[in-house]
Amino acid sequence: MFYETSKNNHGLKYNPFKSCIIPRPIAWITTLTKDGINNCAPYSFFNGVASDPPMVMFANNGPAPDKNGAKDTFSNIKANQEFVVNISTYENKDLMNLTCSPLARGESEIDLAALETIESKIVKPKSLKVSPINMECKLFKIIDLPIVKENEYNGIIIGHVLGLNINDEFIKDGMIDIKKLKPLARLGYMDYSVVDNFFQMNRPK
Ligand SMILES: Cc1cc2nc3c(=O)[nH]c(=O)nc-3n(C[C@H](O)[C@H](O)[C@H](O)COP(=O)(O)O)c2cc1C
Repeated sequence: MFYETSKNNHGLKYNPFKSCIIPRPIAWITTLTKDGINNCAPYSFFNGVASDPPMVMFANNGPAPDKNGAKDTFSNIKANQEFVVNISTYENKDLMNLTCSPLARGESEIDLAALETIESKIVKPKSLKVSPINMECKLFKIIDLPIVKENEYNGIIIGHVLGLNINDEFIKDGMIDIKKLKPLARLGYMDYSVVDNFFQMNRPK
């Protein structure tokens, strides 16, 4: 099959686009509101985009929960330039899911999910203790993207990872213990996956 995305004439039950970009890691992002409240939400249009220096990106898409502009995570980062990417794992999947609840601005998903936080070393937003990997980020650039519907915002947030906190329990033989970490991944529809098996492949010389 082939369809033109601007016509959306795929003829399928659901738009297949997101299911064609799988699996996606889930950045569970903590930010600080201007009133000093810690905010937290999951974002799966997320990835690393450079390793030296380490840079990450995630994207804000579609309508804001309050239908009044961008989502809180984006607004907070725009206001104070800092965020923490907490990696979501199979173990914390239900808590992660709870934090995407559309709360009013100023209400904290961290309280809703009763998440324990730890002080970050470099940035002000707190890190999530339940997450074995925390990336302390400084905003590098925001790129606005086109929108189709009014009152929506699409944009890419690129961050410079200034500090990387890895729980020592998840390091084995000097490497991240993926079998223990069990990173969660977003698929299409309401499907998720977990990285619990892998293999090695060397690059051609
Ligand atoms: C697994 C998962 C992945 C998500 N990925 C994204 C994403 O990439 N971009 C986005 O704008 N919203 C995404 N969402 C929805 C946001 O988490 C949701 O809109 C949330 O309420 C935003 O919170 P905030 O306003 O506190 O930032 C995702 C939700 C879940 C559960």
